[in-house]
Amino acid sequence: MSDRACARTLARQYVTADLPLDWFEVLYQEAAAGSAVVPWADLQPNPNLVDWLDRTATDGHNRQALVIGSGYGDDAEELARRGFSVTAFDISSTAIHRSRERFPDSSVSYEIANFLKPPANWHRRFDFVFEAYTWQVLPPDLRASAVRKTAELVASNGTLLVVTRARDATDPAGQMPWPLLREELALLTTSLHEVAFEDFFDNEQPPVRRFRAEYRRDEGGNP
Ligand SMILES: C[S@@+](CC[C@H](N)C(=O)[O-])C[C@H]1O[C@@H](n2cnc3c(N)ncnc32)[C@H](O)[C@@H]1O
Repeated sequence: MSDRACARTLARQYVTADLPLDWFEVLYQEAAAGSAVVPWADLQPNPNLVDWLDRTATDGHNRQALVIGSGYGDDAEELARRGFSVTAFDISSTAIHRSRERFPDSSVSYEIANFLKPPANWHRRFDFVFEAYTWQVLPPDLRASAVRKTAELVASNGTLLVVTRARDATDPAGQMPWPLLREELALLTTSLHEVAFEDFFDNEQPPVRRFRAEYRRDEGGNP
């Protein structure tokens, strides 16, 4: 069975048991023991983030960033390299411990947290919030809440950048990771302003359809 198929089997077992957030830690623990592979961990920054940061000449100095579902930490480290003061969190304690081990001299604050119940002091705190590939591993019924709660972490004048697998409503829902609909991201616009929306095929083999979308909390905008 492929690494992706093993993760799908695990996800299916836990989603069926109504424990949709519990399989991540199990998978990371199995990976730490050498009996599984984390299929999304390519141990390098997400090229769709790097490309966007280069294109927009983003400078993180004097700005706070938050990385959602940070896995093994490569995106967080990329943002720290560009000057951001970075908090990165994951629901898996094993993933967070591994991130701290991989980057022992890092300035990133790696924390164990659940974005469905974020710490109160994160409310509208971050100038840059990065979400990649986390909403798409949640079953559809949890996504609306995840999307809304993530929006509430963006500071006034702050930016949220989302990268996700993408589909149209006429496409099959597929298997985990479940591609998102543009309509699901549109929930963000109840409190944030959509700055840019890209719908593209990436450079993976075979190419994967993705959305990369940028949102902003306008100062004095929606409450
Ligand atoms: C598909 S992985 C993506 C990891 C990383 N963002 C990347 O692009 O490589 C999803 C990550 O989100 C984490 N995660 C899932 N549900 C979460 C939640 N409710 N709160 C925080 N992290 C969560 C998982 O443990 C996993 O590390």
